[in-house]
Amino acid sequence: MAKMVISDVPDPEYVGKRVFVRVDFNVPILDGQIREDYRIRRTIPTIDYLVERGARLIIATHLGRPMGRRVASLSVGPVANRLSELLGKSVKFLGKTIGEDVKRSVAELQNGEVMLLENLRFHLEERENTPEFSKELASLADIYVNDAFGTSHRSHASTYGMAKYFELRLAGFLVNWELNTFAKVRESPERPYIVIVGGSKIRDKINAVKNFLEIADKVLLGGGVAYTFLKAKGVNVGTSIIEDDGMVEWAAEALKSYRHKIYLPIDHVVAESMQGGKNSMCMIVDDEIPDEYRGFDIGPKTVARYISQIKGEGNIFWNGPMGVFELDAFSSGTTHIARAVALATLRGATTVVGGGETVAALRKAEVLDSEISHISTGGGSLLVFLNGEELPGISILNESEV
Ligand code: 3PG
Repeated sequence: MAKMVISDVPDPEYVGKRVFVRVDFNVPILDGQIREDYRIRRTIPTIDYLVERGARLIIATHLGRPMGRRVASLSVGPVANRLSELLGKSVKFLGKTIGEDVKRSVAELQNGEVMLLENLRFHLEERENTPEFSKELASLADIYVNDAFGTSHRSHASTYGMAKYFELRLAGFLVNWELNTFAKVRESPERPYIVIVGGSKIRDKINAVKNFLEIADKVLLGGGVAYTFLKAKGVNVGTSIIEDDGMVEWAAEALKSYRHKIYLPIDHVVAESMQGGKNSMCMIVDDEIPDEYRGFDIGPKTVARYISQIKGEGNIFWNGPMGVFELDAFSSGTTHIARAVALATLRGATTVVGGGETVAALRKAEVLDSEISHISTGGGSLLVFLNGEELPGISILNESEV
């Protein structure tokens, strides 16, 4: 069933109304500088639309996983500045998420003005979805809009809990675009359906891989997910990061049932520590990773093997870098995959790339947006959606009446 979108509401409804817009501005920031702002840019049509109709906008996002602590490097201050540049107007930023100052500032908002709240996850109550925090956030506004596709798989206070306090719970243009664009891939992917999964949020990724093993034709693994599978296969992974806690056993079972579909690295770029990337104390090893070493990227033989599967046909879905691509010494595998996916698009495949880090990897590899069929703002959320599961942040929105 389609969801009600902001354009389904008559324009006069917005004049002077306080509209809470949940966005996903969880963008990579290094030393206070935003490295990649695709997720911010994609929400501009929604924000422009509401501003032009005289709404008073309260925008909120999370950034990273501060787990209820106030972490200076995870303040959304730099995001407020970038948003202001993109909108061409000032964005109020108090450095606070809730409380009296926020309420006062909201009360002072004029029609068409925009304010950004501080990182929602500075409060543990956001993740725990407590009724008190949900109510407090809801008390700031009259209308609720979800334009945070990337976080819609989370049942947090701002993505789920607070929405029930609103009569109008609407999808923003970005959420609407993501749902429509990826519905086809979800319902009837073109064949062969090749899924490439890497990255560091291993638990989320492994859960997604479980489903992809059923629906995809081939699943190519890198990053922490791959090391968990390699360990399950009995390969020495040294100090590489894996997800234990039952996942290794599960991966061992999956390898038995889906051996023909699962592609794992056959060589690795390893170092004793991440700093190895800086002083070039890294090396390439085949198969086993020595005890003291950690895998930070896939090696050249793996790259060649994976690229041979990324052809110009069917659907190709990629989420998660193959290694620590931010460091040049460990970026080769991810860069090669990015360029192979781009080339596959030009050869006729329908390619989908999603996730903050993965989009940053496309930029680093100098892949153009036009060389990928669809770039999603969702990483984990897109994995969940393509697996056919329901997204709580979407299910809570009003159904469309048309
Ligand atoms: C993401 O980057 O995938 C989203 O912003 C969700 O972040 P989370 O995995 O920390 O909830």
